[in-house]
Amino acid sequence: MPPEARLGTVKLVGAGPGAADLLTLRAARAIGSAQALLYDALISEEVLALAPAACLKIQTGKRAGRTSMKQETINRLMLRLAQRGLEVVRLKGGDPSIFGRVGEEQAFLHAYGVATEIVPGVTAASAAAAQFGFPLTHRGESRRLLICTATAAGGGAFDIGQRAAEADTTLAVYMGRDQVHDIARRLIRDGRAPSTPAAAVENAGHANARAIWSTLEELPGQLDAAAPSGPVLLLIGDVTARAAASPSHRREPQRSAMS
Ligand SMILES: C[S@@+](CC[C@H](N)C(=O)[O-])C[C@H]1O[C@@H](n2cnc3c(N)ncnc32)[C@H](O)[C@@H]1O
Repeated sequence: MPPEARLGTVKLVGAGPGAADLLTLRAARAIGSAQALLYDALISEEVLALAPAACLKIQTGKRAGRTSMKQETINRLMLRLAQRGLEVVRLKGGDPSIFGRVGEEQAFLHAYGVATEIVPGVTAASAAAAQFGFPLTHRGESRRLLICTATAAGGGAFDIGQRAAEADTTLAVYMGRDQVHDIARRLIRDGRAPSTPAAAVENAGHANARAIWSTLEELPGQLDAAAPSGPVLLLIGDVTARAAASPSHRREPQRSAMS
């Protein structure tokens, strides 16, 4: 970097579930003034359209069979762009602090003296619950929300401790689609009732969102049968049954759409 070049900053921005009106104002402003935008596969066209025409847009996630960039490549790219003095936005689906590798990217950039700012976004669990009309916690019914992933960095098995098996825990499992049989089996083995209400929501927050309303025991088979192609979030807990009671007009058509 030439000594006189000013270092740009990198904003690690949550794009929410897809709809532009679910962006925070701060996220929309960051995208609207970005000079370089690195974005993941799940970012919608509607959100990308907020970037200036002159903004350099680089896709980092896989779409339509293309492979994803390696994390190291993304890190180096962000660094190079910041070293050119550009205002960089790293745009991630949902909230960047939830399974978004924001900590790794931030640590890498800080090691090179690049300033970062995290802008939160609406995570998939919040989007799913809002869209289908149920709460993630509920007084006297769900005392905690446990956000977890079924895929561990080292390829380890799903194991998130005894709290997950307690009746008053709502479990939001990200990246759990392929492990749903194992997840249900383990939770039931650890004491969670097989009849616990459970749901799988595909494309939460989008107009084409679909949901399966089921029980912990039956969810794996129903999800297999539905064969969703979009991102899927598993929600396990009594609160999901509240979707059935919701008078929201968006509810009913979705209920059987995936089954
Ligand atoms: C790498 S994680 C990113 C999560 C994201 N940072 C968030 O806060 O929503 C990707 C996983 O999140 C879940 N996910 C993301 N967007 C989703 C959506 N619109 N509908 C359902 N699940 C979604 C899926 O489980 C997907 O495999």
